Amino acid sequence: MPDCALFRGALVDPVDEVSWRAEADAGLLVEGGRIRAAGPFDAVARQAPGQEAIPLDGVIVPGFTDIHIHWVQQTVRGQYADQLLPWLKTHIWPAECRYGDADTAARDARLFFSDMLRAGTTMGMAYSSPHPHATRAAFGAMRGDWRLGPALMTANSPPELVAASPRDPADLKPLLAALGTRHFALTPRFAVSASAADLRAWGRWAARHGLHIQTHLAESPGELEEVARLFPDARDYTDVYDAAGLLGPQTVLGHCLHLREREWECLAARGAWIAHCPTSNEALQSGCFDLASARRHRVPFALGSDVGAGPSHSMLHVMGAFLRLHRAQGVAVRPEEALYRATHAGAVCMGRGGEAGRLVPGRRADFVLLPRGSGRFDPRGWFEDIVTGSPAELEARPLGTWLRGTCAPAPLGESRPAC
Ligand code: GUN
Ligand code: ZN
Repeated sequence: MPDCALFRGALVDPVDEVSWRAEADAGLLVEGGRIRAAGPFDAVARQAPGQEAIPLDGVIVPGFTDIHIHWVQQTVRGQYADQLLPWLKTHIWPAECRYGDADTAARDARLFFSDMLRAGTTMGMAYSSPHPHATRAAFGAMRGDWRLGPALMTANSPPELVAASPRDPADLKPLLAALGTRHFALTPRFAVSASAADLRAWGRWAARHGLHIQTHLAESPGELEEVARLFPDARDYTDVYDAAGLLGPQTVLGHCLHLREREWECLAARGAWIAHCPTSNEALQSGCFDLASARRHRVPFALGSDVGAGPSHSMLHVMGAFLRLHRAQGVAVRPEEALYRATHAGAVCMGRGGEAGRLVPGRRADFVLLPRGSGRFDPRGWFEDIVTGSPAELEARPLGTWLRGTCAPAPLGESRPAC
């Protein structure tokens, strides 16, 4: 890797829900894998006298962040059966049983991270199958910056997966030691697949070690009925996790589609994050995310693909669905918010610091190059176009992905003209 590189192209950097910084002719100066300067080309070039610029014919944006994905479902994405619970039983759990085999886990983990870079995703939070060795395989193959954990399943699940799943926190210790608190996420699959006692034990352990936690909450009506049956003393689904001490600012809750007012208030009070997964919600017809309530209660959220319920690894696809589905509900959403929720918000949700997921000095130089189109650079029009297309087109749309300033190698058999 050259220690210092000056890239020249258009650039769009997310700031918050309503704004971004866009430059038609920008410079991105990278030193030692980190951004030293980003902004108008001439101003950045002055900071590196004599440094030859590397022209990038496209638009530079931060690497995407996918804060809810199941890497062990990549081979069965897009296979739907009516609702969540039958879909899990028919398609997903049998597929996850395959990861009992260490070679399958190692091979698919490599495939997964290669596919992530092709789609422009450099950070995220991913569920493994319950087998601890599958999470180790993913950590060994990791490219980019991820949080990972085995989906804990200790009840109401196929015996093979229950047998593979750690139950006692002591059994998770070696995995936590291997990944460290930076990359480990405690991952109770959902309330249905655990007892109240297990959830409490995991909650205590997470608090003791300051762990990030990921799980699913209130995704589908059938799931809500099951949770009410299994936890008759809980006030509602959210209360099941709250009573177990699992809710806090380091908790990331997938979906949250069917929440009562009390539950919104509880999430806001605990500072918990939501992983909003619009393509998954659409594919499984789980319901619509109540964006107005999330905004009203100031509950923070970021975007996720939720593959395999989500049909595509592409966060461009997820951002496009975010805009399309909320506009169809009559809720105003802007391109600036879509980009922010799939980059900066996700990185903050992962605990990577105040300016994480942005193209600003000091941050890791993880970025994606997207096609620019012809004519004058109009960032908002460009963005609406760039997130439009079929899932397959959008997965292949990035021209290149850079990790710490180095272009990630192309997956086998593909050329990457921009690198
Ligand atoms: N709820 C529990 N497990 C899963 C899963 O694998 N995918 C989705 N979408 N929801 C879940
Ligand atoms: Zn999920």
